Amino acid sequence: MMSKLGQIVGCALIALPLCFCGSVWAADLAKISDELTTLYMAARQVVSDNQAHINNPDLGNKGLSADAVVSKTLENYQKATNKTLDTTNLSKAQKAMLDAVRQAMDENQDLINEKGTGFKGFLPAVFGRQVATNFTKTMNQSMEIKLTAPKEYVRNRANRPDKWEHNVIETMFKKPDYQTGKAFYEEGEVGGKKAFRFILPEYYGPSCLSCHGTPKGERDITGGLKEGAALNELGGAISLTIYQD
Ligand code: HEC
Repeated sequence: MMSKLGQIVGCALIALPLCFCGSVWAADLAKISDELTTLYMAARQVVSDNQAHINNPDLGNKGLSADAVVSKTLENYQKATNKTLDTTNLSKAQKAMLDAVRQAMDENQDLINEKGTGFKGFLPAVFGRQVATNFTKTMNQSMEIKLTAPKEYVRNRANRPDKWEHNVIETMFKKPDYQTGKAFYEEGEVGGKKAFRFILPEYYGPSCLSCHGTPKGERDITGGLKEGAALNELGGAISLTIYQD
């Protein structure tokens, strides 16, 4: 069974000051994880807010350059946390996250700016997967971020939960009395390496159900099959791993 080290709600830390890795405290790692996952979501929010704009077939240039999206990401981050991220003093991981956003936007410019095509398959989850892959690569086995989901709801096999993620999703996040939106974290081991693991649940909102909702099995706009999910149901999770050595 997993040992509960601490849990956090949004940005309010209620972590136990447990030390398990040299001088780095679990509470510090939870704070770092909270900030990074918030930054990741702030970036994905930009794509979500611009979905109709991106899907507009009458427009060429959408004005969503890497710079524009990073700047909106920082705005969203500020709104979510009431804190301004000091871009002159970013941690290595924060820098890697913003660079990952830049890279994904640079790589998708042609697709996004294509005139004459409506739906382009450029979705928050697709962008999120690309950002996660870029980030994980830059962090070179010191940190990993991943967008995952309950096993039965995974569309892209690259996003399927590992054993630990699956276990937290099934035995904690799905419990009716589990506090909505609360992240869970603990010390663990990944690929034989000591790691701090952090996972944040996400739920289907009204805008998600045109693709993930009912009727189950019907094709959505992407050509995928609707999951038959309900409003506010657990739909995904953001998982962050910080390796200790
Ligand atoms: C236009 C259709 C569409 C909408 C709207 C949509 N999704 Fe998705 N979602 C997809 C597709 C397609 C994928 C697979 C993406 C990929 O290839 O990685 C996906 C993937 C995901 C994943 C990653 C796990 C997996 O299944 O591969 C999560 C989590 C997720 N969606 C949650 C949401 C949430 C939460 C919302 C609403 C805020 C939402 N989606 C809105 C189509 C959609």
